[in-house]
Amino acid sequence: MAINNGIKQDRVSVFANLQHAPPGGPFALAAEYQHDENPNKVDLVIGAYRDDNGQPWQLPSVKEAKRRMNIESIDHEYLPLRGNTDFLDAARTLVFGPTISQNTVRSIASIQTVSGTGANSLIAAFLQRHAQPTNIWLPDPTWANHVDIWRENAPDVNVRWYPYYDGYNRRFNLDGTIKALRTEAQEHDAILLHACAHNPTGLDPNREGWREIAVLCEEKKLFIVFDLAYQGFASGDLDRDAWAIRHFATHPDVEMAVCQSFSKNLGLYGERTGALHVMALIESPSPSADSIENHLVDLQRALVSMAPRLGSQIATEVLTSSELHAMWRDDLLTMSGRIKAMRQALYDELVRLKTPGDWSHIVEQTGMFSYTGLGSDDVAMLKKKYHVYMLPSGRASICGLTTGNVRYTAQAIHEVVTRGRVENDR
Ligand SMILES: Cc1ncc(COP(=O)(O)O)c(C=O)c1O
Repeated sequence: MAINNGIKQDRVSVFANLQHAPPGGPFALAAEYQHDENPNKVDLVIGAYRDDNGQPWQLPSVKEAKRRMNIESIDHEYLPLRGNTDFLDAARTLVFGPTISQNTVRSIASIQTVSGTGANSLIAAFLQRHAQPTNIWLPDPTWANHVDIWRENAPDVNVRWYPYYDGYNRRFNLDGTIKALRTEAQEHDAILLHACAHNPTGLDPNREGWREIAVLCEEKKLFIVFDLAYQGFASGDLDRDAWAIRHFATHPDVEMAVCQSFSKNLGLYGERTGALHVMALIESPSPSADSIENHLVDLQRALVSMAPRLGSQIATEVLTSSELHAMWRDDLLTMSGRIKAMRQALYDELVRLKTPGDWSHIVEQTGMFSYTGLGSDDVAMLKKKYHVYMLPSGRASICGLTTGNVRYTAQAIHEVVTRGRVENDR
């Protein structure tokens, strides 16, 4: 038998048929950016807040919470399987407000999760197992991971799309959404809604639009999965960003889940801090909420046992101290304010340069991202020639803009857009 490098030639790896996985979207681009040695490079891919020097920002409220917690004294015991109870109570009140949280007609089951991604995964698996929706309706477009999360965790549920984005008018497509759901959604299907700061478009329904969607969801008995990754980060106002969820909760027959993340609004990205809340119709709150929680705990136990400890303790400290809460509200205004200022600066520069087209959507969109309207060729050229990185869809993270690079970025966009024109005119 031939032996090569110590491996017998008739042996074949169990992974012999493994294909090379295609590089993973934003993370592959982020790696390319890291290796780019051009001093002018601009990272508009990053899904994390950066300060005006392009650096990660530790929120002062979080810093103060850690100081107060005397972090060295904290032990590393397991959390209970459901998670940190104080954290869950505070997190639930943050989403629903005090009145709904204490509602006795519909009770809310809550479990701590591995941040927002873990909450999305858990509800997908839970619905497949216990509600068996025929379809999950996702907005087109959506955060790319939603598709993978549903395919991996609920393979029996069909992924369907509702037309969220009206590319011609660069608006949220309310009519298209209503029409698709009215004509094609089946009773007890699930629908995913971004509660605020839709990723990637930065476009949310207005309150009238939310009301219409809520009525339709109730009529069609759809189960709503709210993804709440940007509460307070979008507008700077925690209550305003939770308005849609609280509005849906006023509909007596609506059942829903909320996937809550503290990655962006507390800057706890790597601490994987989040929760899943499930609001179901029940006669007698305690046993039913308990049984939902028990099943959530069982499912999550098989995957990760329980969510991590430290982030939930930091979050609890901030959420339960009135002083730290006030500091946090200021931090949210700092982050959302800087993003708004950068939107305005980019827009002003493009107008000053007389870049062809209407760029007002950049200031009208909210949250971390702008759907710039640039095509994949423009994006490719921005990267190759100007070292400005964004997703091929034209999604740009406004957090990557600073007072130091916004003019360069606008100039690069201007040159790419006008060069395209000159070439087309030839
Ligand atoms: C829409 C949306 N949902 C969920 C998440 C999940 O974030 P995390 O798992 O860090 O909480 C993100 C992160 O970018 C997001 O944009």
